[in-house]
Amino acid sequence: MGHLQSIEWRDGILRLLDQTRLPAELVYLDCRTHREVAEAIGRLAVRGAPALGVAGAFALVLAAREARGTGEDVPHFVQKAAAELRATRPTAVNLGWALDRLLATVEKARPEEFEALLLAEAQSILEEERRAEAAIGRHGQALLADGDAVLTHCNTGSLATTGIGTALGVIRAAVEAGKRIHVCVDETRPLLQGARLTMTELLAEGIPATLICDNMAAYLMRRGQVTAVLVGADRIARNGDVANKIGTYGLAVLARYHGIPFYVVAPLSTPDPAIPCGEEIPIEERDPEEVRRIGGVLVAPAGAPVWNPAFDVTPVELITGIITEYGVARGEIGRILAGWYGRRN
Ligand code: MRU
Repeated sequence: MGHLQSIEWRDGILRLLDQTRLPAELVYLDCRTHREVAEAIGRLAVRGAPALGVAGAFALVLAAREARGTGEDVPHFVQKAAAELRATRPTAVNLGWALDRLLATVEKARPEEFEALLLAEAQSILEEERRAEAAIGRHGQALLADGDAVLTHCNTGSLATTGIGTALGVIRAAVEAGKRIHVCVDETRPLLQGARLTMTELLAEGIPATLICDNMAAYLMRRGQVTAVLVGADRIARNGDVANKIGTYGLAVLARYHGIPFYVVAPLSTPDPAIPCGEEIPIEERDPEEVRRIGGVLVAPAGAPVWNPAFDVTPVELITGIITEYGVARGEIGRILAGWYGRRN
């Protein structure tokens, strides 16, 4: 099954599929500098927690090459580039996690080895994420039954990752296992990742899906038309609280009220052991124009005051389980994840 590929490293160039142009056009960005990648990340041309980590890692490979031409100390240049990249999207921990892995490589390397070692580390992050998603799919699909109707939010497919995806990967794996799954796709305002990206992926693969506006989820659940909710994660605190796309928390509350299982699906690059609980997770706030406009068209008065947090936090007690490459964490979610995190990282 061919998936849309969001990131590709080819001949020293980082090629990104510009997700802001989907579904209308397939446009690729060829990034030759870390600044071009940082700019693409900032405007969500590349997005989704695992994809952000991989894009950030390759951006540091570009930075090491740029440093050669400046006469600057390479490690210093790469560290400055990492700081710029880290500041672009503060919530998705995978970005900082991948940058830290590359910076640790720089510390250990001799100057003549920098570029080769950084490239090898970026490529292994990409491959690890791909393998993790395949394993997540295997564990997660076992939780879905033939005939299930799964509600999902934002985009967690191959566009947001480097493999089959996280929540969408589980759905793909269930379909490949022969189960009939219907997907209910939240449009996901303000930037419509559900409508624009998830629907594109599902339609391309012939997986039955229905698009709904975000405010329709409660009624759909009330009518018994949702049997499970699957979402991704941008950062998981030590106690198991989960930051994910704005609107996720509301779905978790609704799922609990209606007695529907609510699963978070994430690789072990997403827990952040340094953060004790959800309140401590930094939440990115974005340009008010994203709320005032849809597809560039004003849908509110130009001067309307706006609040635009890109993520919210779902408390662990609303989460039925977190599906990772090592299995499904249930019950004492934070403690189980801490054990698995230590094994992978
Ligand atoms: O702002 P975005 O589009 O980067 O937000 C993406 C999400 O919230 C996803 O659910 C999350 O990154 C998990 S992706 C596998």
